[in-house]
Amino acid sequence: MIQTTQQGTTLRKELNAVDLAMLGVGAIIGTGIFVLTGLGSLVTGPALPLSFIIAGFTCLLAAFTYAEFASLVPVSGSTYTYSYATLGEFFAWVIGWDLILEYLLAVSSVSVGWSGYFQSLLAGFGIQIPHVLTQSPLIDGTSIMNLPAFLIILFITWLLSIGVKESKRVNNIMVLIKVAVILLFILVGAFYVKPENWTPFMPFGIKGVFQGAALIFFAYLGFDAVSTAAEETKNPAKDLPKGILWSLGVVTLLYMVVSALMTGIVPFQQFEKHADAPVAYAISITGQDWLVGIVSLGAAIGMITVMLVMLYGQIRIIFAMSRDGLMPKFLSKVHKKYRTPYVSTWTLGLIAAFLGAFVPLDQLAELVNLGTLAAFVLISVAVIVLRYKQPDLPRKFKTPLVLYVPVLAIIFCCVLAFNLEVMTWVRFLIWFAVGLLFYLVYGYEHSNLRKKSNSNSE
Ligand code: ALA
Repeated sequence: MIQTTQQGTTLRKELNAVDLAMLGVGAIIGTGIFVLTGLGSLVTGPALPLSFIIAGFTCLLAAFTYAEFASLVPVSGSTYTYSYATLGEFFAWVIGWDLILEYLLAVSSVSVGWSGYFQSLLAGFGIQIPHVLTQSPLIDGTSIMNLPAFLIILFITWLLSIGVKESKRVNNIMVLIKVAVILLFILVGAFYVKPENWTPFMPFGIKGVFQGAALIFFAYLGFDAVSTAAEETKNPAKDLPKGILWSLGVVTLLYMVVSALMTGIVPFQQFEKHADAPVAYAISITGQDWLVGIVSLGAAIGMITVMLVMLYGQIRIIFAMSRDGLMPKFLSKVHKKYRTPYVSTWTLGLIAAFLGAFVPLDQLAELVNLGTLAAFVLISVAVIVLRYKQPDLPRKFKTPLVLYVPVLAIIFCCVLAFNLEVMTWVRFLIWFAVGLLFYLVYGYEHSNLRKKSNSNSE
């Protein structure tokens, strides 16, 4: 995450397209590729690379509209802040509430992925954590909680609470580590592919490919980090699309090759029993045990960045919502010494930690995906509405081919969303019903905008 100054002050314009691409890749590569590929292959089979193309294309479309939206408001911040400034309080509330699903639950999901690779790493040293402490009790009832997932989030929360943020340098190192372990896997794994594992290529048909795309969509989340850096970019009109294209292009290529190799090395059905750390499992099949440790370490380190970025983003959103009066005031309390919003940091960190400890990865990731897809649809709609309602707003970056791009983004997001489980939709709708209730009971009454307009009319 790039260091930013307080809202309202100007940020240094020092990022170019390469920096943006690095920022994107750092925030993107994590649990999606290292863990969800296993679960994805169970619904798609060896055609998983096709799912990555579909999900990547959806993100590309959404990224353009996201970048335009982000460039509308001259302060650095999240979609919530942009919505508040351009479309008003209610829309901003809906986006903010929705983004909690993306950011907060993504932290929990990644912690579960991290736990799988941490355990694989420990196993390399002959250390086994007692099974009762290794996974969600909802998986098969043999475990009480996922303790490593719980503890890693507490650690990340502590780092954020004392003001540790990822710098450009740390981000670049993380990107190199992540890409290096993936390339190592590709270089070694390529020699152990058995082409017969690739037939039948599409055992669950095109439906399976779309279901897989809806699940592994998670692997792309984080690219929005690129578009939120519009203000810090030297030449946003040119550099933003380049940065987005490069980061999405690079990760799509890596994801396609890795998923093709995984299903080529191991018959995909075997991932059912090795869903926690499927890449490590695929390597172990090759007999190259030295590589299992390296990849597990690289994956675990890489996932820490993703959690840092996501939790930081979530805290920023809740902090802004609290300052606007839409969330309780105590959430925007700032620590005297560390100057961090420590109350929201610990509140959100603890919630994420409990979810990571007790809920299975697939349930978390699906809900994250639906929340994010919904946010992308809302943003694409917002871009279209604002083009008509306020055509003269200064836009540092303009989505190409409007209406085609935002409309296609909406269609693709909806197609993926409807390929998610029914139960995911039920949870999502409950989440929204609770949000609406909370807004009516609390936010509407306490909102700063309403307080101001009431005092003006008195
Ligand atoms: N894209 C991020 C990951 O896969 C969220 O971990």
